[in-house]
Amino acid sequence: MAGKIKAQGSLAVVQLHHAGFRAPRELIGDMPVAPSPSEKFGARGLSHGEVQSLIEDFIRGAERAKQAGFDGIEIHGAHNYVICQFLSAEFNRRTDEYGGSLKNRSKVLFDIISGIRKRCGAEFLIGVRLSPERHGILLEEAVGTAKALFAAQEIDFLDISAWNVFKEPVEAAFQGRSLLSYFCELDRGEIRLGAAGKVYSPEDVYYCFEQGLDFALLGRAAMLHHNYPHLLRDNASFMPKRTPVSREHLLAEGLSEQFLEYIASMWPDFISG
Ligand SMILES: Cc1cc2nc3c(=O)[nH]c(=O)nc-3n(C[C@H](O)[C@H](O)[C@H](O)COP(=O)(O)O)c2cc1C
Repeated sequence: MAGKIKAQGSLAVVQLHHAGFRAPRELIGDMPVAPSPSEKFGARGLSHGEVQSLIEDFIRGAERAKQAGFDGIEIHGAHNYVICQFLSAEFNRRTDEYGGSLKNRSKVLFDIISGIRKRCGAEFLIGVRLSPERHGILLEEAVGTAKALFAAQEIDFLDISAWNVFKEPVEAAFQGRSLLSYFCELDRGEIRLGAAGKVYSPEDVYYCFEQGLDFALLGRAAMLHHNYPHLLRDNASFMPKRTPVSREHLLAEGLSEQFLEYIASMWPDFISG
């Protein structure tokens, strides 16, 4: 059974991820690894034993998070990181029990979840982040993974990394309705469903709830206001700042100089001046 989200206040959850073939060789000082060898990314395939070590590493990461005082973890299964690579039929061409059918390709994820639940207990929050499309993932399969997670009822929340909560699917066959509707319509039992992408104003947050989500994730909006949910709770007409904003504002919100440099390199229109 999942640990059920009971708290009304704040909960601290840390994300666990392994970059797989996305890890730059210069940074890790070795050849990146992936479910299967990839010439394009200069990666070698993980051996069967290494896959088992990878699963154990995620479980140990969760144990360390618990020891450090976190309420839970989020397993990064999105953005073409290693778990996403395992889920993808494009990047996972293994012939052992970790490859082939979607069930086999999701075995790494499910083994990690079961291991964390067993070793960190029923009260420890476990979340999963999935990419609903792109990154080698087909919408139908992402929905299949969500369905399996909901059927197992071992996690507490599912986070769909949509990059835009208002968008339609990229695959033409599924267009005509919102991307998130494919996840909202599933029977999710006790598991909470949320999504991220271009949620800025309170209206955007309410739109997420109207679509059937249980929570909205804030990325860039939370950088503009580190305490956004509290500001909205305390003032129903709260209007967040719009980008570009000054360096001074972001520093006052608690962002470091180094992080500002990173933002400026990724989103040139975020910071004014
Ligand atoms: C500076 C920055 C760093 C991010 N780092 C991560 C990360 O470590 N893991 C992750 O899953 N997503 C990361 N994201 C993506 C966000 O979690 C979020 O999904 C994305 O920004 C879309 O939401 P937004 O439109 O509210 O910003 C990052 C986004 C930004 C802007």
